[in-house]
Amino acid sequence: MSTQAVTVIGLGPMGRTMANVFLDHGYAVTVWNRTASRADELVARGATLATTAEEAVAANELVILSLTDYDAVYAVLEQAERSLAGKVVVNLSSDTPDRARQAAAWLAERGAQHLTGGVQVPPSGLGDPESSTFYSGPQDVFEAHRPALEVLTGTDYRGEDPGLAALYYQMLMDVFWTSMLSWLHALAMADANGISAAEFLPYAARTARSLPGFFEFYTPRIDAGEHPGDVDRLAMGVASVEHIVHTADDAGVDTAFPTAVLDVFQKGMAKGFDQDSFTSLYKVFRGTAG
Ligand SMILES: NC(=O)c1ccc[n+]([C@@H]2O[C@H](COP(=O)([O-])OP(=O)(O)OC[C@H]3O[C@@H](n4cnc5c(N)ncnc54)[C@H](OP(=O)(O)O)[C@@H]3O)[C@@H](O)[C@H]2O)c1
Repeated sequence: MSTQAVTVIGLGPMGRTMANVFLDHGYAVTVWNRTASRADELVARGATLATTAEEAVAANELVILSLTDYDAVYAVLEQAERSLAGKVVVNLSSDTPDRARQAAAWLAERGAQHLTGGVQVPPSGLGDPESSTFYSGPQDVFEAHRPALEVLTGTDYRGEDPGLAALYYQMLMDVFWTSMLSWLHALAMADANGISAAEFLPYAARTARSLPGFFEFYTPRIDAGEHPGDVDRLAMGVASVEHIVHTADDAGVDTAFPTAVLDVFQKGMAKGFDQDSFTSLYKVFRGTAG
C-alpha cells in the first residue's frame, strides 16, 4: 500500500474539494459517490472512480468519508462491509459524539479503525494548513496518517475517545449558530428601523471583538465554580434582555429568540441567583442549579 494513496467517499462540496486537494498533492485518489456524476471533474483530473462503495474501500488503507451524517455513513459502509477489515476510516461527516463512538465500535467489530474528524472550515478553507480539523480516536492511528490528513488542513488531536472530535465540533457550532442568529435578529431590528446591515456592521464587529475578553475574564471563575455578582448581576441582565424583547416586539420583529434567552435568565432568578453573576446561568444549563 502506498502512503500516497487515499479513497474519498462522498463528493458533496467538502468531499469534492478534499479529493481535489489530494490530487493537487500528487496522491492517487479513488472516489465513490452515490450520485456518480459528481465524480466527473475529478476523474478528468486523474481520480479513479470505483464502481461500488466496496471497491472504493478495498482500493486503499486510508478511507476518508465526507457524508451528510452518520445515517449516510452506515448506508454506504453497509455496502462495503466485506472490504472493511484492516482499513482506517477517517470519518469527516458531522454528527453527535455518541454516534461517533457507536461507529468506532461498529467498525472495530469489522476489523477496521475509526478516526473521528470535525472540519472547522468550509470547502474554501481546505488545503490551507492554517485551517484546523479536530481528530479523535486511537493516537497511533492518527499519528500514522497525520501527514495525509495534514494535506487537507492543520490537525488538532483531542484524544482517544472517538466522541471528542465531534464534541468539540458541536460545541463550536453551538457558539457559532447562536452568535450568528443573534446578529441576524439585531439586523432585523435594524431593518425595521430603517438601518442597513452595512450601517450596523462596525458596531456588531466591535461587540464580537469584545467577546474573547469576556470569555477570558469569566473562564477561571467558571472553572472554580464561582459566580460572584461583583461586576454584573443576573437581575440587571434580566432587565436588559426584557428591553430587547420589547424593542423587537415594538418593531414587529419576531421575539422568539430573545424570549428564549429571557426564559433562561428567569430560570436563574427562580433559583435565587439574582445577586450573582449572569454566569450562574451555566448551572441552569448544566442542571446543577439545585
Ligand atoms: N460544507 C461545509 O461548509 C462544511 C464544513 C464543515 C463540516 N461539514 C460537514 O462535512 C460533511 C460533508 O459536507 P458537504 O457540505 O459536502 O455535505 P453534503 O452536501 O450533505 O454532501 C454529502 C455527501 O453525502 C452523500 N449522501 C448523503 N446521504 C447519503 C446516503 N443516504 N447514501 C449515500 N450517500 C449519501 C451525498 O451523496 P449524493 O451526491 O448522492 O447526494 C454527498 O456526496 C457534512 O457532515 C457536513 O456537516 C461541512
